[in-house]
Amino acid sequence: MKEKLIQRYNKAERVNHWIVAGCFVLLAISGLAFFYPAFFWLTGVFGTPQLARIIHPFVGVVMFLGFFIQFFRYWKYNLMEKEDVKWLTSVGQILKGEEVGDTGKYNAGQKIMFWLMTVCMLTLLATGFIAWRPYFADMFPIPLIRIALLLHAVSALVLIAGIIVHVYAAIWIKGTIRAMVEGVVTQAWAKAHHPRWYREIMAKKKAKDEAAGRL
Ligand code: HEM
Repeated sequence: MKEKLIQRYNKAERVNHWIVAGCFVLLAISGLAFFYPAFFWLTGVFGTPQLARIIHPFVGVVMFLGFFIQFFRYWKYNLMEKEDVKWLTSVGQILKGEEVGDTGKYNAGQKIMFWLMTVCMLTLLATGFIAWRPYFADMFPIPLIRIALLLHAVSALVLIAGIIVHVYAAIWIKGTIRAMVEGVVTQAWAKAHHPRWYREIMAKKKAKDEAAGRL
């Protein structure tokens, strides 16, 4: 039987997401290389340690700008609602793979992840700017640069841990990766994991079909 598909992300959204994800991987590898001597060899990701030191902040700016666009695309779907309390208080059931509550486009876990990403991105940008030699660091006192570097490392580690969960969840719920690769999900996926979003999409589709006189 032919699968019934629903569009979840258009091409621009997918290209945007994978640019951010690609930058994140390069930044995480080169950042860990600067942070832990045992990982220093990973600076090779940008050719040489010197090049890694020069390129890392520029890639950081690209990641931030990419995420900035994502933020404005998705913030309204990530606002917490009453229904999210049910999801959050049923973590045991969720971990068993059961679905809880009348979830919209994103569930409460995805929403928390979205806001965590946002806080980390803003912290990484602000602290990275303060510590960026040779362009901006001279404008700030050394104690402030030290605090900025500490916060930069902490927010990077939190973001890396968050993205590991984000990727795990995307693989764990079958059919989710396809949403960000091909842009589509099956109707069964939508009905099971995001029932309110499914009803909204189907209602819109019905209204469009009726307006076009196809029903
Ligand atoms: C590196 C591997 C990554 C994979 C495999 C991955 C996978 C996915 C998938 C499958 C979705 C769709 C989820 C859904 O529609 O329910 C998604 C959404 C999203 N991803 Fe990623 N992602 C990755 C990295 C990142 C990174 C590094 C960021 C930003 C820091 C990011 C930010 C987002 C955002 C903002 C959404 C929309 C979800 C929301 O607004 O709550 N992703 N990702």
